[in-house]
Amino acid sequence: MSDTPQIPIVDLQDLNHPNKARRQGATDALKEAFGVYGLVYIRNHGIEKEELDAFYRALLDFTSQPTADKEALSRPDLWFQRGWTPPNTERAVVAGGQPDFKECYFVAPEKLDPVAAAQYPQVYCDNIWPEGNDAFRSHYMNIGHQLHEVGLSLLRGAAQALGMKPYTFELRVDGGPHVTRSLRYLPLGADQVNTGILWGEEHTDFNLLTLLPGGRFITPQGDWCGRPDDDCGLYLRTRPSAEHPNGQMVQGKAPAGCIVAQVGQQLEILTGGAFLATPHVIKAPGDPGYSRVSMAHFIHLHAHQMLFPMEPFLSQEAIKAYSPPVLAGTYGTKTLVDIGLAPPETLSQMGYRHYERLGSIRAEEDAQS
Ligand SMILES: [Fe+2]
Repeated sequence: MSDTPQIPIVDLQDLNHPNKARRQGATDALKEAFGVYGLVYIRNHGIEKEELDAFYRALLDFTSQPTADKEALSRPDLWFQRGWTPPNTERAVVAGGQPDFKECYFVAPEKLDPVAAAQYPQVYCDNIWPEGNDAFRSHYMNIGHQLHEVGLSLLRGAAQALGMKPYTFELRVDGGPHVTRSLRYLPLGADQVNTGILWGEEHTDFNLLTLLPGGRFITPQGDWCGRPDDDCGLYLRTRPSAEHPNGQMVQGKAPAGCIVAQVGQQLEILTGGAFLATPHVIKAPGDPGYSRVSMAHFIHLHAHQMLFPMEPFLSQEAIKAYSPPVLAGTYGTKTLVDIGLAPPETLSQMGYRHYERLGSIRAEEDAQS
């Protein structure tokens, strides 16, 4: 279809190329991709298909264990930011309460800032691992780290695309609570397909940048397969325009060999909306029994960074849209409550909460008088 929007492809080598014309071409494509679609396809990213396959096999070894074994690695006290998240736990904020049809595992592949770890223990905590699955651990950490490096390259390109110094964003994510999530979308039963149950409800990611190396579908018999039907998988909503006031829903089908990067809420806020957090949804296949394994790396601002449009984007409109300023750590905590991973009472831990101390001093005074 001629009016089908074309999501740009960026060659990572061009983005860092000494030749100015090549670098400029890639930077321009990235600007259109993040500005209009909030998503880009990346070529020459360095993620090996064989290692990804090996990781997904190890992930399936883990997910096929009895639920009780997986529950031993489930940590609601860490807001599920490490280890196993059971199905029907996370929900999208605007999903009307429907939880996503998936089970997840979270790890942090990068070194954590010890100061932030003391202040935000749930999102800056050490990894936990299943016993006896070394392939899971080594491939997970390796791919997570590689995705992080790809993301940093993109952030350097994104800063240049907006006329800023290359390390503008990278400096702000250094030591952030970056997390890599692997997941298995659950097979739907015959009575569940085509009833509106989604593998992932429409949402925008709350971090800065998300890297998606591509998942694998699995047949009801347990074999890997291609896309079960043309309609299932990732869809994204483009930026609303006069012609399309609600944006357009576009299928996110990465060309062969490419991976995907998506803009998250933090990057939209810092750029005053110049880059767009992508609303996206994951549709399940129309036939029962199919499942899917997938993986995402989430790059976050450091918890101490201020979330507010940066100087070049401080228009009256942007100030109005993204006020009040808030620390990235606070923003993350609030969002984890919103999506059902952190308990609601977490919010009462923010701000001054030592009224009891004053109350007891005054009570003591009253007793003495
Ligand atoms: Fe997402």
